[in-house]
Amino acid sequence: MKLLSPSTSTTCYLSSSPSAFLPRHSHGFQNLGSAGTFKFSKKQRRCVRKAGPTEISAKFELKPPPYPMNALEPIMSQETFNYHWGKHHRAYVDNLNKQIEGTDLDGKSLEELIVIAYNKGDMLPSFNNAAQAWNHEFFWDSMKPGGGGKPSGDLLKLIERDFGSFEKFVDEFKTAAATQFGSGWAWLAYKENRLDVGNAINPLASDEDKKLVVVKTPNAVNPLVWGYYPLLTIDVWEHAYYLDYQNRRPDFISVFIDKLVSWEAVSSRLEQAKAIVAEKEREDERRRTEEEEKSTIRETPHEIFPDNDSD
Ligand SMILES: [Fe+2]
Repeated sequence: MKLLSPSTSTTCYLSSSPSAFLPRHSHGFQNLGSAGTFKFSKKQRRCVRKAGPTEISAKFELKPPPYPMNALEPIMSQETFNYHWGKHHRAYVDNLNKQIEGTDLDGKSLEELIVIAYNKGDMLPSFNNAAQAWNHEFFWDSMKPGGGGKPSGDLLKLIERDFGSFEKFVDEFKTAAATQFGSGWAWLAYKENRLDVGNAINPLASDEDKKLVVVKTPNAVNPLVWGYYPLLTIDVWEHAYYLDYQNRRPDFISVFIDKLVSWEAVSSRLEQAKAIVAEKEREDERRRTEEEEKSTIRETPHEIFPDNDSD
């Protein structure tokens, strides 16, 4: 934490210190890195201390994409970025900060806020701005200049295991993105092995556990609300493609897959998701073992040594 002023008006930076911020009921991985990777940490936020030790107002900041605004031309124009990042994304962040200032949600990480505000589908007013702020940052980091092609390594193996082939995955992802009615998103996500996600109803059955899944979501919804680990997303709101592709959403989806996806970012997110899940499983196992040991101790009858009158 960096304190910039000792006066009654203090600006500080909350560093991204590691935490156990995991997606059981609050979602621990987030997109802070320049390579589109997750950091298991609190969102970096600027906070302003006003006239007293207890009045702290945390502000989310608009992070720029990890490349220049013209770096994806001609596939995604600078004009699109000027509107999409400069106006739409900025508005989500600004409006969120206004909405949560002074409320119980002020001070939560963005992922915590999203899950709380999702509220089992009966969204609180701040949900849309919070989720859209997260989704857009994740989207920018899902792309890179000279992207596309085919993934490799464990990511490719899992894609082939869970979809049959990379080409079948591409078909499924394109179909999800093209058929999302109205505004929304399509996602590749890693689904953990649990159905109880606390603040939402898990839409996929348990036979999809520990698999890669493709899902589409309306408006601002993202897979964090179901406890999934997002790996890749495409924004299919019209503002994402209209300036460059008019109403030809399928063309935008194709060129996104062929020339923009950063498979390095997706691979990195997958590795981190698997690491989180593995650590949680180890923790669950430790907890189970402890419970069993306590239960064994409680159930073991104490030996009784009656007094022997003959002594
Ligand atoms: Fe967008």
